[in-house]
Amino acid sequence: MKLFTAASAASVLAMTAGAAFAEPKAEVMHWWTSGGEAKSVAVLQEEFAARGGSWTDMPVAGGGGDAAMTALRARALSGNPPTAVQLKGPAIQEWYEEGVLADISDVAEAQGWADVLPAQLAEHMKCDGHWCAAPVNVHRVNWIWANADILESNGIEMPTTWEEFNAAAEKLKAAGVTPLAHGGQSWQDATVFETVVLGLGGPEFYQQALVDLDEEALTSDTMKQVFDEMRVLRGYVDDNFSGREWNLATAMVMNGEAAFQIMGDWAKGEFVAAGKVPGEDFLCAPTPGEGYLYNVDSFAMFEVEGEDAKEGQALLAELIVGPSFQETFNLNKGSIPVRTDVSLDKFDMCAQKSSEDMQADAQNGSLLPSYAHGMALRGAQAGAITDVVTAHFNSDMSSEEAVEQLAAAVANSM
Ligand code: BGC
Repeated sequence: MKLFTAASAASVLAMTAGAAFAEPKAEVMHWWTSGGEAKSVAVLQEEFAARGGSWTDMPVAGGGGDAAMTALRARALSGNPPTAVQLKGPAIQEWYEEGVLADISDVAEAQGWADVLPAQLAEHMKCDGHWCAAPVNVHRVNWIWANADILESNGIEMPTTWEEFNAAAEKLKAAGVTPLAHGGQSWQDATVFETVVLGLGGPEFYQQALVDLDEEALTSDTMKQVFDEMRVLRGYVDDNFSGREWNLATAMVMNGEAAFQIMGDWAKGEFVAAGKVPGEDFLCAPTPGEGYLYNVDSFAMFEVEGEDAKEGQALLAELIVGPSFQETFNLNKGSIPVRTDVSLDKFDMCAQKSSEDMQADAQNGSLLPSYAHGMALRGAQAGAITDVVTAHFNSDMSSEEAVEQLAAAVANSM
């Protein structure tokens, strides 16, 4: 029996198990192309390679993923979808309804996902009761980032109300500092808008307006106040904001060219990738008001032919939810692990705050899906709202006109 070496045992096994030993392969479509994002996705590529996988990268630049989703539709229409795609929120179920998503329940059950994922977030990963996506993280959307030196030298504290924010911005403007770094792309306008809806209206109003699409909420005085504040914020951005990518807006805060940015915590990934330290170089605080807007990145696997591709999908799903990846990836990405059993010891004060608030908000019913990042609504409804938000931000449309257009656009999109 001694003659039967480990190597030959492995090859006999490989022969008998046949296809199960195919080399795992994956073509992965994502939109993680900024500094912090690229560092984060590299963690997955390395873990995949370490397990014998071969990865074909399919990055589609463009924050928020609009360009990636257009590329995905083109690939899927031509009958040749990537094996794994960064996909989130109700878009997962929309693709499932097209009959093109693979069932990854085998991996999810073998790895005990149900025991380590918060139930509310796990629901987004299910299609007709089975697992159809693997969650990567929890990004919080309602954050303000600030340049610590600028605030200090102008005698400004991190604002805790929108009034305080406006007062700080006026002071900065008078001192010749751009108050708000912003990129004029519709998803960035939507990102700011939803934090104002939450902040001025409160969690219940946010739910009614941007999750339930309640007409009364959409046309309410509160919504008019939200558009009033959007008009005020428009006065705080620099002249070159149109079309700017979000990470360039983050760089403005980093380099002292602007004081604040309202953006999800992928912005922190940029600060950290540039060696900046929270609490020293930059500050983080939730946008004024209560509640937590979550944005969970996840990957869905598309139905593909070939054992190697299927092996690749199973391996990716296993790694993505695995504790080691969840820690390293999220340290780079700015988000927190979606698994509840990963220690946050190595994470910074912003991540700790995110995690504490998430737990408290989950208890209070104020842990809410981000509409701007595709967690709350189907594509048509979300797109209808964003069109109005952007049209308002880039014109002199009144708040009255904006709420009318908002209600009409939502009604037309149903
Ligand atoms: C994604 C993040 C990404 C950001 C900017 C968000 O929608 O969830 O992972 O970093 O867009 O591209």
